[in-house]
Amino acid sequence: MFKFVILLSAFACVLGASIPDGLLPQLDGRIVGGSATSISSFPWQISLQRSGSHSCGGSLYSNTIVVTAAHCLQSVTASSLKVRAGSSYRTSGGVLVQVAAFKNHEGYNANTMVNDIAVVRLSSSLSLSSTIKTIGLATTAPSDGAAAVVSGWGTLTYGSSSLPSQLQSVDLSIVSLSKCQSSTYGYGSQVRSTMLCAYTSGKDACQGDSGGPLVSGGVLVGGVSWGYGCAYPNYPGVYLSVADLRSWVVSAATSV
Ligand code: ARG
Repeated sequence: MFKFVILLSAFACVLGASIPDGLLPQLDGRIVGGSATSISSFPWQISLQRSGSHSCGGSLYSNTIVVTAAHCLQSVTASSLKVRAGSSYRTSGGVLVQVAAFKNHEGYNANTMVNDIAVVRLSSSLSLSSTIKTIGLATTAPSDGAAAVVSGWGTLTYGSSSLPSQLQSVDLSIVSLSKCQSSTYGYGSQVRSTMLCAYTSGKDACQGDSGGPLVSGGVLVGGVSWGYGCAYPNYPGVYLSVADLRSWVVSAATSV
């Protein structure tokens, strides 16, 4: 059952919303290259659970509001969603809280993946602790080459049907929008202005990491959005750019 659910969600991610028009999936995998970590190092990380299973990552903006990706919240109802916070493990520990409501960005486009952002409101507020903390939103996009880290419970190889039980993280370098659109990489104009890229050979986010945090300089600079395979040479991970979508988050957080 578990494998079935994961396969379905990975499949949906590959064939559905997460690949912009023109990019077709490949079936060979490549390791993402991270390592197991503790929630204490990423206390803003949550697991968004759909019908009892991990489906996406997210970040704590406040003790009641999570920022995640809009593609994580297509064809779902709030009543089927819960958030696990404060645990290094996606299936146990920390606290599991019911979702009260969520709001997708009105301009989200599943074909282009622009505005792939959403906010989720919890039905009860979290008690902040050493394992549950909020993270600030970037006000400016990170510079090309800046150090960044992405975390999540997504697959360790592209096309894998199982998720790690312990939180993983991997260090990456920011690739500026203009460099990411250049012929150095494979995407060209499919990378849009509300997106940013991060790349390091052999390292990447992957299926199941979506919506989760990309942090640089102590602030949330991105959320996992899409990519061609995972860690494929010359195809960076593409993230929603928090600095570009910040004002939407601030206002959606008060109206969700
Ligand atoms: N769309 C995927 C998900 O729903 C995330 C893909 C990220 N891919 C990447 N190569 N960085 O989990």
